[in-house]
Amino acid sequence: MEILRAKNSGFCFGVRRAINKANELIKNTKTEEIYMLGEIIHNPQVIKDFKKKGVQIVNEVSLVPCKKYLITRAHGISSYEKEIARQRNIRIIDTTCPYVKKLHQIASLLNKENYQLYIFGDKDHPEIKSLLSYNNTNAIVFQSCKDLKKYCSTLSQKVGLISQTTRDEDEFKEVISKIFDDVEELRVFNTICKATSLRQNSTKELANQVDLMIVVGGHNSANTTRLAQLSKKVGAETYHIESVKDIKEKWFDGKDKIGITSGASTPEYITENVINRIKKIISKNC
Ligand code: F3S
Repeated sequence: MEILRAKNSGFCFGVRRAINKANELIKNTKTEEIYMLGEIIHNPQVIKDFKKKGVQIVNEVSLVPCKKYLITRAHGISSYEKEIARQRNIRIIDTTCPYVKKLHQIASLLNKENYQLYIFGDKDHPEIKSLLSYNNTNAIVFQSCKDLKKYCSTLSQKVGLISQTTRDEDEFKEVISKIFDDVEELRVFNTICKATSLRQNSTKELANQVDLMIVVGGHNSANTTRLAQLSKKVGAETYHIESVKDIKEKWFDGKDKIGITSGASTPEYITENVINRIKKIISKNC
């Protein structure tokens, strides 16, 4: 039995940067002064580690005492949350990924130039929630081509189209072609981040070569979930696991090639633990 890893997997630049910023603060500040707004990244083990270090996780800025430190999510902080923090003299450690900030700038530009803004993404994801807070027009957020159909009658003649940074490129292209026929002017920005598309392409490539794919990462991580979906779409038997504890020995019966990939928010040590566990199962079965 052979274990193959995806060429591109694991922490992306934005996640690494956010975690480093948070750790830098922890190193130089009393932890009782430090709060985190929701989850800095979508990985349960990383969040558990920050809690162990003494960081307090809150879901509302109003729960942070005045003048303390507040670490944002890598997905961004909304304008309302920023305003509450300003009023309370809270010191913000902004870990928003630069690619997410770029998305905000593009949305503002499209607004200013009077494009009707269409966003391919999940309206409940923190990235989209923060984005919408800076663009108070009637932006339309849709999840899929099927979902888009509901909004086709509202398309104006001048449409600006962007995507959540972790969406699937092929699906985004499909969305573009669906809107193209119905509008006079369509301005598209490819806002899917490079780290996302590299991880997606590597996953598809590997899923094509193996009998079984293990996708490692938080169940609440949009980018990891997408990798598992893509792997299944290719036709590979796929399991999305958070850690070594989720592995079932029977998955490996009669399998020759095992593919491993991990999301942009999955620490390397978790993937290594998974690989070591699989190696043990393989050697037991030999
Ligand atoms: Fe940023 Fe892309 Fe990672 S948007 S957080 S570099 S997946």
